Amino acid sequence: MKELDWANLSFGYMKTNWNLRISFKDGKWGEIEESNSEYVPMHIAATCLHYGQEAFEGLKAFRGKDGKVRVFRMEANAERLQSTCRATMMPELPTETFCKMVKRVIELNKEFIPPYESGASLYIRPLLIGTGAEVGVKPAQEYMFLIFVMPVGPYFKGGFSANAYALVRSYDRSAPLGMGKYKVGGNYAASLYAHNIAHEKGYGSEFYLDAKEKKYIDECGAANFIGIKGDKYITPKSESILPSITNKSLQQIAKDNGMTVECRPVPLEELNEMDEAGACGTAAVISPISRIDDIELGKSYVVAKDGKPGPVLTKLYNQLRAIQYGDAPDTHGWVTVLDI
Ligand code: PLP
Ligand code: COI
Repeated sequence: MKELDWANLSFGYMKTNWNLRISFKDGKWGEIEESNSEYVPMHIAATCLHYGQEAFEGLKAFRGKDGKVRVFRMEANAERLQSTCRATMMPELPTETFCKMVKRVIELNKEFIPPYESGASLYIRPLLIGTGAEVGVKPAQEYMFLIFVMPVGPYFKGGFSANAYALVRSYDRSAPLGMGKYKVGGNYAASLYAHNIAHEKGYGSEFYLDAKEKKYIDECGAANFIGIKGDKYITPKSESILPSITNKSLQQIAKDNGMTVECRPVPLEELNEMDEAGACGTAAVISPISRIDDIELGKSYVVAKDGKPGPVLTKLYNQLRAIQYGDAPDTHGWVTVLDI
């Protein structure tokens, strides 16, 4: 394999050596298969193609200074996938099988794990699709779960720097009683138009308010919102956002630092009182927010007056990364160490 430019990787697809697959048929999961194909043979009436019966996940593995590989919170991802399965009438994959496949796919692609010094990581993408043929709207009888990996750099160009977001009021990614809290592809299809508007206007990403009242902050594109006000860590409580594993981890780290965590509806206007704000997620890690522009109402909320990441989010970012790379002790049992 030719040496990759690890330090300049962006967040995008790259072919690696192997992916893993397991099929669900006749009411049970089969054997794990190793594949070097980038393709999935599919029935033309598969439910994932017609009715969006699919779910995905995203997690990362990190190569430490000690050479060991650490996977971050894979059991939490397995459990979130199970919750998406319940909501979409798909069979739940046992946590044990999920974790076994995560560990094996990393091992099979170990030369793609970026070195410690690069600051890059290995992104792991689990995917579950309805493969059984149905034309009536009903759940499939057959499914495929697969996992592939790729080395990634920062989600936003420029790494840990502050980005501006565009609040696009005319579009919602999910409905109040809809699928926003699950990781289904349809939510991302629903975000593409608003995302494109934001991108064309030069913003890092689109920003969503709650769909019902258009009053409270929901999400920052494909990431949760965090606001910092004095020693308070404030994050939206909403039925239509993804329960971010990164956000939960950061809440714990904030508490460990003596901060107060407030998980509650966050009115948009409260941005005027925030000292710092950021987007958080597996891909985004913490991506500080410089400004949120309400592009349809022509109003701007400037959070970082100097356009730079603030001290609290910088500290939380460094603390989270230190746990993930093994530079700080894993006091909450979040990390699985692989000796590969
Ligand atoms: N919100 C959305 C819509 C996402 O797609 C993601 C990414 O997974 C997140 C939030 C962050 O979640 P996590 O921290 O579990 O990656
Ligand atoms: C993640 O953070 O893992 C995501 O899923 C974000 C995006 C790439 C969909």
